[in-house]
Amino acid sequence: MYCVSVTVFDFVNQKGGVGKSTSAVNFAGQLALDGNRVLFVDTDPQGTALDWSAARVTAEHPTLFTVVGYPRVGLHKELLEMSRGYDHVVIDNPARATDIPRSNLLAADVVVIPVQPSPADIWATAEVLKLLDEASVFKEDLISVFLVSRRIVGTQLGKSVRAALAGSTPKVLDATIGQRIVYAESFLEGQTVTEVDPASAAAEEIRDLTRELVNLNG
Ligand SMILES: Nc1ncnc2c1ncn2[C@@H]1O[C@H](COP(=O)(O)OP(=O)(O)OP(=O)(O)O)[C@@H](O)[C@H]1O
Ligand SMILES: [Mg+2]
Repeated sequence: MYCVSVTVFDFVNQKGGVGKSTSAVNFAGQLALDGNRVLFVDTDPQGTALDWSAARVTAEHPTLFTVVGYPRVGLHKELLEMSRGYDHVVIDNPARATDIPRSNLLAADVVVIPVQPSPADIWATAEVLKLLDEASVFKEDLISVFLVSRRIVGTQLGKSVRAALAGSTPKVLDATIGQRIVYAESFLEGQTVTEVDPASAAAEEIRDLTRELVNLNG
């Protein structure tokens, strides 16, 4: 239903706690629910997505997508082989690291930079933008976007972050992720927000995110 070749989505930001793992897992889950075979590569030594997957097994939910750990440099050399038989790959990155994200960028098609709507978080993107700059020398076709994440629902902060990043490269996705308790609760159970309640606002924003990201590579 989407493009034929494997697309590699890379969720990266050296700033910690911005929602990389949460948005990456829910996005991967939506791709899977839409009928895609998804490989999720957790390159964070912290293993957040692996923990999500283990919680899922404990709760006896059927497998939604494959999660593998690769907490080291070198994914760009192995991903082609690893991704055989899958439609899409989603990579989660560690915070406060450089070598692993740098290697992962070389494997990526679409780079998603989750950013919380706060000045400190916007300034902190300088680090990831530097890595992107380096990678673009090797990868001219790399697509990169900001994703406003953990937006406090009902506040204007989401709008002001959009204004602060307006006209920026990378561009800001229209889809945003709200700060909602269901993201934390569902994660603990090894589920996605869509599985918990497909009619929820959270599920709606994850569907919007998925549609927009898939179409970027369209
Ligand atoms: N949209 C959201 N709504 C509510 N809670 C959220 C949301 N996104 C993330 N969280 C919570 O914030 C914390 C950090 O989120 P997450 O692990 O996704 O960030 P991260 O960028 O992957 O962090 P790290 O840099 O440590 O890998 C978690 O406890 C998570 O449950
Ligand atoms: Mg994480």
